[in-house]
Amino acid sequence: MNKISEILKQSINDLEDAVSPEEIDKIRIKYLGKKGVFTSELKKLAEIPKEKRPEFGQKINDAKTVFMDKLSSHSSEIENKLLNDKLNQKSIDVTLKGFRSETGGRHPISLVRAKIEKIFINSGYKIKTGPEIEDDYHNFTALNIPENHPAKAMHDTFYLGKDKLLRTHTSPVQIRSLLAEGAPIRIIAPGKVYRCDSDQTHTPMFHQIEGLVIGKDISFANLKSVLHEFVESFFERDVTLRFRPSYFPFTEPSAEVDILWDEEKWLEILGCGMVHPNVLSNAKIDPKIYSGYAFGMGIERLAMLYYGVKDLRTFFDNDLTFLRQFS
Ligand code: FA5
Ligand code: MG
Repeated sequence: MNKISEILKQSINDLEDAVSPEEIDKIRIKYLGKKGVFTSELKKLAEIPKEKRPEFGQKINDAKTVFMDKLSSHSSEIENKLLNDKLNQKSIDVTLKGFRSETGGRHPISLVRAKIEKIFINSGYKIKTGPEIEDDYHNFTALNIPENHPAKAMHDTFYLGKDKLLRTHTSPVQIRSLLAEGAPIRIIAPGKVYRCDSDQTHTPMFHQIEGLVIGKDISFANLKSVLHEFVESFFERDVTLRFRPSYFPFTEPSAEVDILWDEEKWLEILGCGMVHPNVLSNAKIDPKIYSGYAFGMGIERLAMLYYGVKDLRTFFDNDLTFLRQFS
């Protein structure tokens, strides 16, 4: 009986000396483990006289209970102390300035493209797209630009091997859409195009929006009025346009349209014309029944005028100070 009191005293001392959860755990094993001190005392019960066993067993179990209560209260004390130490060390200064995550903005070319698309969608045009890697047939031949035609040289094409090239304009989408859907049709086709070309008003990659309307009794006068209306709703003001006679193998007659800006300065924004009968035939449309117009405008050119940007190349410099002005 005295031995049990001694063991209990010793176990409580051990617990009081412990300062970490690891030490507490070692003490727990020392006293309560399979070979622990209390456990072996209980095993010894078999060796003592039967009549003394209940009293002795009771004493051990009581001691064990006291030990376990102390163990659990002391280990919560230790855990609280550790937590408080940690909180005191790593104090957080809630008055410090935080980090705001930056939100991006849309690129000015995307904004202008969306504005153009909206105007045409509201007039009943559908949006079509085509591949940026084209073949010679869709980019040139089907558009009435035969092999060795000087117009082909004018395009400064990036070739990707024998028959593949980066499309030089969005006009191949005219052919693809007509072949897929037939006439009548009223579409715009926005996208990237590529030419080996770079100066203040030219970049090697730029964006065009093709327009194509095929139906019965469509005239050049319709084309003129559509473009006029478009340009004025785009700039939201009166605009002076100049239709300059021009040449494209895929339209006849053809024109280029310039906008007056900055007193007496003209900037070409698009090419257009009545779709050439050969193009209609190549796209399996009967030119005796159908006629129509097409146009291809440069999105960067419209963006330059809209935002007053003098050099088209700045749109692609990825200078954030420049780009942030538009978002
Ligand atoms: C064409 O690309 C014809 N496919 C347009 C067309 C379509 C005519 C349908 C008739 C019927 P052009 O090469 O002129 O034409 O280019 C059209 C427009 O793209 C130009 O008016 C200009 O606004 C823009 N553009 C041309 N080259 C560049 C360039 N390197 N960088 C930026 N914009 C350009
Ligand atoms: Mg041109």
